[in-house]
Amino acid sequence: AEYENLIVEQRGGVTLVTLNRPQALNALNSAVLEELITAFAAFEADDTQGCAVITGSGEKAFAAGADIKEMADKPLSEFYSQDMFSRWQSHLVCATRKPWIAAVNGFALGGGCELAMMADFIIASDKAKFGQPEITLGVIPGMGGSQRLTRAVGKAKAMDMVLTGRMMDAAEAESSGLVARVVPADDLLAEAMKTAAKIAAMPPLAAKAAKEVVNAAFENTLESGIRHERRMFHMLAGTADKAEGMAAFVAKREPRFSGR
Ligand code: HXC
Repeated sequence: AEYENLIVEQRGGVTLVTLNRPQALNALNSAVLEELITAFAAFEADDTQGCAVITGSGEKAFAAGADIKEMADKPLSEFYSQDMFSRWQSHLVCATRKPWIAAVNGFALGGGCELAMMADFIIASDKAKFGQPEITLGVIPGMGGSQRLTRAVGKAKAMDMVLTGRMMDAAEAESSGLVARVVPADDLLAEAMKTAAKIAAMPPLAAKAAKEVVNAAFENTLESGIRHERRMFHMLAGTADKAEGMAAFVAKREPRFSGR
């Protein structure tokens, strides 16, 4: 596919998706969304690809939000009739069963913070800044921010951020549980790609199952979540990669996974 707003590269088993509208701090307009849907569908369908990384071009921003210029003159009727922002959930989050990582290099604001939180986890540069400043524009988070931020950092910090619009720096984001790791800005992409390559080398059925059951923790009661986990474990016991992984351990050799 041809992309105007993204750079999409395959590096071994890892798909690297770079948001590429640096002149607008990678603001997420509808063209970016449609291209992301295409890129993620291709990633999901390609058996050679096991993990994706999404990052922002330039030094300054991961993504500074939904495109305010695109939203400024849009009436309520259009937001509602088009169910604006629903495609992020239905075509990116719910449709992507393979793991993907957000490598946040700078500002992740509004929809940019929400996009990062859609990833399975976030690796942040020490220069990253996170925020949900929508209230300053007369709106609120619209791509899951009020839900995912609250689950990630708890009510106190989520309310603080969503009501004041203030930003969190990388250190606060790490100590609050919003991001998995913080690394020096110069190492961000290498660290994210190395982590993604490690995941891409894992048995892919187990990777999908792992993602599914961790996400189930946000949907289920403890009892049904644990049952879901146990059933997925049982399912994996029937895979060739379980036989290979355990045989390789016992024989003290490297496993060779087949994806079956
Ligand atoms: C459209 C944007 C943009 C955005 C920045 N730009 N953010 N364009 N939508 N979200 C554009 C600016 O207009 C400018 O273009 C260029 O990018 C550089 O930005 P500056 O403001 O000149 O840079 P700076 O002074 O360094 O400030 C950086 C910043 C600021 C603090 C990140 O740009 C900012 O506050 N941006 C908006 C952040 C925000 O409110 N995000 C939430 C959006 S609402 P020109 O051509 O003018 O020079 C949202 C709703 C989510 O996300 C709901 C569901 C999606």
